[in-house]
Amino acid sequence: MTEVKKKRRKRRKYKLVLPWKQNTAQTGNKTVRRKRRRLKLKKEVWYAIAGVAAVLLLILVPRAMDNSKLKKLGYKKDEIAAIREQKLTRTLLENEWYSPYLAQAIKNNSLDKDYLELYTVVSPERGLSAQDFLLYNRLLDKGYVDKQLLNLFKNLKYWEMTPLLVFDYQYDETMYINDCTSHRETNSQDHFVLDGNYYTFYENTLPVDDVSSVDMLVNKTYYLDGSYLPPQLTDLSIQYAATDRQLAQTAADALADWCNAGRGVGVTFYATSAYRSYESQETLYRNYVGVYGEAQTDLMSARPGFSEHQTGYTVDIAATHEDDIEEFKDTLAYRWTSTNSPDYGWILRYPEGKESITGYEFESWHYRYLGVDLARAVAASGMTYDEFYCLYLKPWNGEGENKPKDSILEASDWHNLIAAETAE
Ligand code: DAL
Ligand code: ZN
Repeated sequence: MTEVKKKRRKRRKYKLVLPWKQNTAQTGNKTVRRKRRRLKLKKEVWYAIAGVAAVLLLILVPRAMDNSKLKKLGYKKDEIAAIREQKLTRTLLENEWYSPYLAQAIKNNSLDKDYLELYTVVSPERGLSAQDFLLYNRLLDKGYVDKQLLNLFKNLKYWEMTPLLVFDYQYDETMYINDCTSHRETNSQDHFVLDGNYYTFYENTLPVDDVSSVDMLVNKTYYLDGSYLPPQLTDLSIQYAATDRQLAQTAADALADWCNAGRGVGVTFYATSAYRSYESQETLYRNYVGVYGEAQTDLMSARPGFSEHQTGYTVDIAATHEDDIEEFKDTLAYRWTSTNSPDYGWILRYPEGKESITGYEFESWHYRYLGVDLARAVAASGMTYDEFYCLYLKPWNGEGENKPKDSILEASDWHNLIAAETAE
């Protein structure tokens, strides 16, 4: 082959190859691009996976750590799930709150979050109800702070705490707790004796909240003005009372019903004393002081303005033919009246064993009219009327900032006490 031919061939070959090369070059570029894209795609997936993993780690690791901390506090697996569901993890961990009862309430979904810490101080056997929350808020309204309330609820029974509603505010609640616990063997809801004195008579006195209401509380804190007169003051028939005795009309009618019911079963009694004016109480009290001195008199007779007799809703009763009311407690009439009085609207106001709360010695003869529903509820509560009033009826201080929410008030309404009693 000549040199020229060889060159031509070479050139032809070259020409032929060029498009292929170009193709290859193009294809090659595409491949690179594709490869790059593939690489790029893989990177994106990788980033996505890494992102998801990071997010999962960010969620799962702290979650696992929280679970482990909750477990360390004492919570079990199902309780931890309930804690998460009720969004309580942070609060419980930050405060390190745990108690078997708290765990139980969370698991049962019966927890009231407003009283979370209170759940940490009570046992599952004691438990907490709307009545407890009401008492908690009442004591708060009296001036007790959360820390004191936790101490009280941790150590005392319900009936050991309700007298605090009547007593002076106790700066050192621990002293009161110790006094209560040291009397556990002998004290009960019916018999409440303490060594210390927690009620300073006639100090921090207040006018009666609502003088137009039959449920008004008159005691050594709440007083009536000299100008107060009972509504529809009416003379009592000598069938039911000593001569020249009066009561508010509703109480007079209730006395007649009560006396008649007693007579129906052979029990006869009558009112020896009923309404007493401010002035007559003043004379009575002064005379007692002359005989017994002030300290002893204060346990037997109210100071003027502080006597329930002034309300027109109160009687001292005696068995017929038995003039000495001191002897009344030994009569059949007392056995009957003390048992049946609530059904006629009356309560035994100064019971035996409650002297430290009422501030008066046991008066078997002194009955207060409240109406049938309220009298039955007070009897069912096992409390003195002083406690009952302060727990259920008293207006809340200030703007009512310590008042519990409506659901607590409804669930702890005193009307439920009669319902519970009837159901038994
Ligand atoms: N004996 C009662 C306490 C009164 O004087 O009202
Ligand atoms: Zn009396």
